[in-house]
Amino acid sequence: MSRKIWVFDTTLRDGEQVPGAKLNLYEKVEIAQQLKKLGVDIIEAGFPASSQGDFEAVKAVAQKVGNTNDIIITALARAVQADIDSVYQAVKYAENPMIHMVLGTSDIHVEKKFNKSKDQILQIGVDAVKYAKTLMPQVQYSTEDASRSEFEYLWHTIESVMKAGATMINVPDTVGFAEPEEFGAMIYKLNDRMKNLDPDVLLSVHCHNDLGMATANTLAAVKNGADKVECTINGIGERAGNAALEEVVMALKTRSSIYNVSTQINTKEIMKTSRLVSSFMGLDVQVNKAITGDNAFAHSSGIHQDGLLKSRDAYEIVHPEDVGLDDMELILTARSGRHAVRNALEKLGFTHMKPEEFEGIFAGFLTLADMKKEVYDHDLYVIVESYHEKHDKENVTNYSDHFFEFEDLQVVSNSSFPSASVKIRKGEEVFKSSAVGTGPIDALYSAIAEITKIQVKLIGYDISSVSRGKDALGKVKITIAYEGENYIAKAADTDILKASALAYMNAINSVIVAKIKGTSAQKLTVNI
Ligand code: KIV
Ligand code: ZN
Repeated sequence: MSRKIWVFDTTLRDGEQVPGAKLNLYEKVEIAQQLKKLGVDIIEAGFPASSQGDFEAVKAVAQKVGNTNDIIITALARAVQADIDSVYQAVKYAENPMIHMVLGTSDIHVEKKFNKSKDQILQIGVDAVKYAKTLMPQVQYSTEDASRSEFEYLWHTIESVMKAGATMINVPDTVGFAEPEEFGAMIYKLNDRMKNLDPDVLLSVHCHNDLGMATANTLAAVKNGADKVECTINGIGERAGNAALEEVVMALKTRSSIYNVSTQINTKEIMKTSRLVSSFMGLDVQVNKAITGDNAFAHSSGIHQDGLLKSRDAYEIVHPEDVGLDDMELILTARSGRHAVRNALEKLGFTHMKPEEFEGIFAGFLTLADMKKEVYDHDLYVIVESYHEKHDKENVTNYSDHFFEFEDLQVVSNSSFPSASVKIRKGEEVFKSSAVGTGPIDALYSAIAEITKIQVKLIGYDISSVSRGKDALGKVKITIAYEGENYIAKAADTDILKASALAYMNAINSVIVAKIKGTSAQKLTVNI
C-alpha cells in the first residue's frame, strides 16, 4: 500500500493574507465546506488573535465544518499564551481540533526579529508547546524560516518541542529560498532523526513560491519522507504565494510511479474549489496556471488539435474530467485545422459531408475566424447555412432563425435606476426591449432575457482587459446555468458593455445549440 500524504489547506489563513482577499464569516464557512468536500485532512481556518472578526470566523468553521471527526480544524498562534488561548477558544468546538504555533529558528529571526539568544527562543517554544498541551492533545509546531536556519539548531528545536509534546512538526520555507535538491536532503535528514525519536509525529512542509519553486520543493520533500504538505488553492498566499494544492496533488497522482504515495483528495472537486476561492477572494486565476487556469485544458494550435483527435494522450497528461471539468476544450480559432473543424461539425450532427461541401464550409470558417477571435458552435450552423444558400439551395436549413444576434444597446448607469435598452435580431425579426436593474449589467441582461425568453441564472461574470491604453479591449467571460448545465462564453470589445452583451448572446446561443443537438441537427425543430 502506498504511503499516505496528509493535505493541510491554509487558503483561509496564509491565502487570506493576500492584500484585498479578506473574506467574511459566511464566505470562510462556505469555502471550508468545499475544502471538506475536496477531502483535505486539515483546514487552517485563520489567525484568531489578529481580530475579533477572524476569531468568530474560525469558531464558525470549527462549529459548522469541524462537526465530524474526519477533519482537523486548526488556526495559527504565535508562541505566546494569549494567541494560544485565542486559538483554543476558537477551535475547541471542532470534533478534532489542533493548535498550530509558529516561532522562527533562523539567525535572522532569532537575533534580528526577536533580539534574543537561541537558547531563549528555544525555551519560549518549549514552554508554549507545554502550555498548549494543557489545552489540547494535538499541537503543530512550525519552525519559521527553517530553510535558512542552522541545521543543528533547527534539529535541536524540533527534538525539544517533540519531547514537550508537539504532534506535528512543520518545516516552512518561509521566504521561498529553498532549492528542491537541497530542501529534499534537509527533509531526509530531519525525517530520519524524527522517526527514530517518535515515529508517530508527522513531518510537514510549507513552501512559498518566491522563486517559483514551491511545488517542486514540496514534491522533493515528499520524495524524501515528508508526511504532510501545506498548500493553498490556486497557490494564493503571502507575496508570490504558497505551493498550490491542485499542482501538488495532481503531480503526486499523475507521477505516482515516482512518488508512490496517495492523498485522500477527491480531485473531481478541484475546479469547483478553485472557482469558489477565486470568486470569493476576487483573485483571478492566471489563464495559463497549471491545473486550474482557464487554458489548462484548452487546445488551440491546429497541430495539437489534430494530434488530440487522433489520440488524447498525444497532448494530454491529466484528464480534465479528473479535476471536475467536462472535457478538453478545442477552441476553434483561425489556427484550427480541418480535422478540428470537421470534428466540431460532426458533433453538431453534420456527419455526411461531400468533400467540396466541407471545403466550402471550411473556407467560410476561416473567413469568420479571421474576424472573430473564437468561433462558437452557433457560428458553425450559420456558416453551414450560408454555404448551402450559395451552393446547394435545395438543402438550405434556416439555422440562423434560431440564434440571436446583437445589434445595439443603450445603458444608463446611476445609483437610483440603472437601465438598459437593447436591439437584437433573430433571423429576419428585430426585437427591442428595455429594463431596469440593480446595476447596469443586471439591467442589460434583464433587457436581453426579456427578448430571448430563456430563463438562465448568471453564476459568473468576469471582466479583464486584454490590451493596454485608451482603446484597450475589455474581455468578458460569463457562466450561466440552464436546466442543470453550465454554459461558459466570452466576448471582447473596446466597449465593455457591448462585450458583456455579446458574451451573454454567445452563452444563450450555446443553450440553443444544446437544444438543437438534443433533437437532430439536420432536421431542425427548436421549441424554446
Ligand atoms: O510561511 C510561514 O512560515 C508560515 C508559518 C506560519 C507556517 O506561514
Ligand atoms: Zn506561509
